[in-house]
Amino acid sequence: MHPGQQRNQLLLGTFVHSKSRRELDIFHNGAVAVDANGKIAAVERDCPSVEAAKTQALSKLGWDADDVDIYTTKESQFFFPGFIDTHIHAPQYPNAGIFGKTTLLDWLEKHTFPMEASLKDLAKARKVYTAVVRRTLSHGTTTAAYYATIDVAATNLLTDLCFAIGQRAFVGRVCMDRPGINPDYYRDESTEAAIQATEQTIEHVRAIDPEFDLVAPILTPRFAPSCTPEGMRALAKLQKQGGYLAQTHISENTGEVQLVRELFPESQSYTQVYDDHGLLTPRMVLAHAVHLTEEEGSLIALRKSKISHCPCSNSSLTSGTARVRWMWQKGIEVGLGTDVSGGYSPSILEAARQATLVSRHVAVRAGDDIEKERCKLSVEEVLYLATRGGAICLGLEDKIGGFEVGKDWDAQLVGLGRVADSGLREGEEYTANGHGAGAGVDAAGMVPALNGCDEGNVDIFGWESWDEVMAKWLYSGDDRNTKKVWVKGRLVHARR
Ligand code: GUN
Ligand code: FE
Repeated sequence: MHPGQQRNQLLLGTFVHSKSRRELDIFHNGAVAVDANGKIAAVERDCPSVEAAKTQALSKLGWDADDVDIYTTKESQFFFPGFIDTHIHAPQYPNAGIFGKTTLLDWLEKHTFPMEASLKDLAKARKVYTAVVRRTLSHGTTTAAYYATIDVAATNLLTDLCFAIGQRAFVGRVCMDRPGINPDYYRDESTEAAIQATEQTIEHVRAIDPEFDLVAPILTPRFAPSCTPEGMRALAKLQKQGGYLAQTHISENTGEVQLVRELFPESQSYTQVYDDHGLLTPRMVLAHAVHLTEEEGSLIALRKSKISHCPCSNSSLTSGTARVRWMWQKGIEVGLGTDVSGGYSPSILEAARQATLVSRHVAVRAGDDIEKERCKLSVEEVLYLATRGGAICLGLEDKIGGFEVGKDWDAQLVGLGRVADSGLREGEEYTANGHGAGAGVDAAGMVPALNGCDEGNVDIFGWESWDEVMAKWLYSGDDRNTKKVWVKGRLVHARR
């Protein structure tokens, strides 16, 4: 069967997605019907029972129950939109966790450029890219905006793997055409060669997925210091012709900001460098944006460019604390990025959690109490960043990010641990080999794990409100709670 061809599906039970930045929409006894093309064909909600929701959806669509694959959520399970990683470097995945005390510019030289250059070896690239696609899927990332390397063949391989494994992706060949700043062993030979190589990777995606329905190209000038003015202008021209998405880094580290000032003395600011070369468009995703000035924030808002907030990376590389509330107040749309391997975790749930923590560090330095409160991001807000916010950044808000008719079924089934009966009665104690204590210990004398098996860190006692359940998932959840993952209706990951 072609990856796009499937049976009709009916998902039943509890669903959670963002209603707005501030509010989650949580509904029970619901049904989401997904057609053979992976699109949501009907949504029923708050029915008297799951059975009623099922009947209602089937009769609305005229589907026969025998021709439909059905999954119903169990206790402490819910469907949630797939996560969207708006900034991740696939070739850096083997370096996750390896950064020591480096900061951006020495980290690039010591760890990043050597690893990226080494993926010219396609056997190595296949190993790394397969692992990163499968690992991010296992954490519920259904869409990723990838930076690849400068190498055309390895970039094309990443495109092939995303398509075959079934992850929605933007794949970018990294442009690094400036000699002197980029190492001689890892740079484009000329501006012309860089643009030609980029076009080759775009045509490769087009050959596989002509409508860019699952996999799409993304123009990727690495960051201003890596690029010549001519290179950036050529990419801007390419974007105008083809309407492609673009991505780069901005104002991540103070040393980097100073370097940009020296390399581009004619431009008033880092943001102005991109604007002066035609790259500050509504289809540009800017990663980090830690040290922006008021004027830069206003210019980004005016141009409707997007920002990928990468809290794990910004803490790991000692880059600083980006201000999401400030960006939102400026009117800028924001999504989340793992920035592997500046960030050590491939998980967007982890990025969302760290976004809340970083916002509290921002709050510590804010003015009065009202301002401090304002800086803090809520559970609802960071889950919005992880889904609908990311979708807007990538221009996919009509396609993914929530559960509405017409959108693609890009989703995860989350299951949290329900605390089981201990097996002990009042007054009994755990003793080895079950002597005198009934079911307290197993045959080997071991006290059983709390939920019997590998259910993750979250214990649900049954008395929590659903808002509290979501908070517990955000702060204590991990990939053990991501039970199944679908992209465009296709099951692409399942635990056990
Ligand atoms: N700036 C330029 N290249 C990179 C990169 O690979 N990662 C991060 N975090 N920042 C960059
Ligand atoms: Fe990055």
